[in-house]
Amino acid sequence: MTIHIGAAKDDIAPTVLMPGDPYRVKWAAETFLDDARCINQVRGMLGFTGTWHGHPVTIQGSGMGMPSLSIYANELIRDYDAQTLIRIGSCGGMQDHVGIRDVILAMTATTLSTPSRGIFKDVNFAPCADFGLLAAAHRAALAKGTTTHVGGIYSSDVFYDERPDLNDQMMRHGILAVEMEAAELYILAARYNRRALAVLTVSDHLITHDALPAEDRERSFGDMVEIALQAAFA
Ligand code: HPA
Repeated sequence: MTIHIGAAKDDIAPTVLMPGDPYRVKWAAETFLDDARCINQVRGMLGFTGTWHGHPVTIQGSGMGMPSLSIYANELIRDYDAQTLIRIGSCGGMQDHVGIRDVILAMTATTLSTPSRGIFKDVNFAPCADFGLLAAAHRAALAKGTTTHVGGIYSSDVFYDERPDLNDQMMRHGILAVEMEAAELYILAARYNRRALAVLTVSDHLITHDALPAEDRERSFGDMVEIALQAAFA
C-alpha cells in the first residue's frame, strides 16, 4: 500500500497499462482482462488486475497531466516494482495526414517542462519510448490494419493553451499529436530502467477541429488497448 494506491504489493502485476481516465480503466479491465478485480479505489483513481491470455496485467489510472501521472508511475515503479508501463490515452492530432481514430505510437515526447525539470535543470533531456515495445506495438498495429503513425508527440502542461504559436512550432517540426502525460512516463522509465510506451488514439484534431463522436469512442479505444497488450507480451 502506498499513499495513492491501496493495493497490496502482490496485487499489482509487472505489466501496467495506464489510461488517464479511471472509468476507462474499469471499461478496459472488464472488456479485455479475465478475472479482473478492483485493486485500488483511493481518490477514485481506479486500478484493476486480471489476466490477458494468461499473463497478469494491471490497469491503473494516471489522472490528467504529468504531475498526476508522476505520482502513480513513481509508486508503481518504486513500491510495486512495475517493469513495463504503457500509457493508453487520447491525443489531439497535429498533422493533416493524422486522422481522428488513428493510433499514434509515441517514439519521443517533447515538452516545455516536466515534474523532472528540477533534476535536469538546463539539460534538454530527450524522453523516448522503449524500442522493443515500440517495434512490437507497430507490428501489432500493422497486423490489425489500424491506421497508425510512429513519431514525436508533444506532452503539454495545458489543455486550454494560451500559446497557439507553440502548437504551430510543434506542427512545423513534424509533431504528430498533443497529450499531457507521456514525457514524464518516459523519463521515469529511463531513470529506473523500466520499459515504457504511449499508445494513443486521436480523439480530436487541432487543424480540422474534428472530434471523435461519443458513440465511436469504445471501438476506437479498443484497438489501442489490444495493441498495448500485444506489445507488452510480444
Ligand atoms: N490537448 C491536450 N491533450 C489532449 C488533447 C488536446 O487537444 N486531446 C486529447 N488530449
